[in-house]
Amino acid sequence: MLRWFLEICFICTIVFNSSCLDLLAKEIKHDRYIKVENIGIEKAAKRARQTVEMLDEMYKAFIVLITDEYVKDETMFSALTVSKKVFEKMGTKELYKARLLDATGEPHNPENTPRTKFERDAIGAFINGKSFYEKVEKVDGKYYFQAATSVSIVTDGCTICHPHNKHGDLLGGISYTFPLDMFFD
Ligand code: HEC
Repeated sequence: MLRWFLEICFICTIVFNSSCLDLLAKEIKHDRYIKVENIGIEKAAKRARQTVEMLDEMYKAFIVLITDEYVKDETMFSALTVSKKVFEKMGTKELYKARLLDATGEPHNPENTPRTKFERDAIGAFINGKSFYEKVEKVDGKYYFQAATSVSIVTDGCTICHPHNKHGDLLGGISYTFPLDMFFD
């Protein structure tokens, strides 16, 4: 009798526990406010990196296309000025921030001088031969994915307005900042 009673208790405990765990799992699955620690910074950063790579390809494709197809002399509206206008627009939508950076020390526009430690470190990395530099930073409790890519002279059209440089020379970079919480599940 006692054995029979204990067996019933044992079965009840198992059933109760598994249904509780199941409920808990469902709650976690449906929690929209998963913290970055829970999904893993690495996973979110990987997604952010893929987005940066895609955007960067696109910006650079139109910078080269505009330069090759439209620019005839240095008085013309440069592809870099166009890019900065697009960066501004995207910044106001609070999707991400992007900045054009100088690596020469003699920028066309002093606004492009690296300002933050991240920007200076990125330019340092480009000077040392890297073409991509990234960092995840926590500011006021929020995580940000920061990445920068190098910008070099890839077409002779660039030298119309950057006459002191030649094909292959590093001129600067583009930096991107994304709030990492955009990349959670
Ligand atoms: C029609 C002239 C023109 C051409 C062609 C041109 N640029 Fe520039 N570039 C500018 C101007 C003007 C700025 C400053 C833009 C600003 O900040 O408003 C600039 C800025 C830059 C900067 C930021 C550093 C700085 O000097 O302020 C980089 C990097 C750059 N250009 C790279 C390139 C590359 C690479 C090409 C070729 C694909 C290119 N540029 C072609 C005019 C030009």
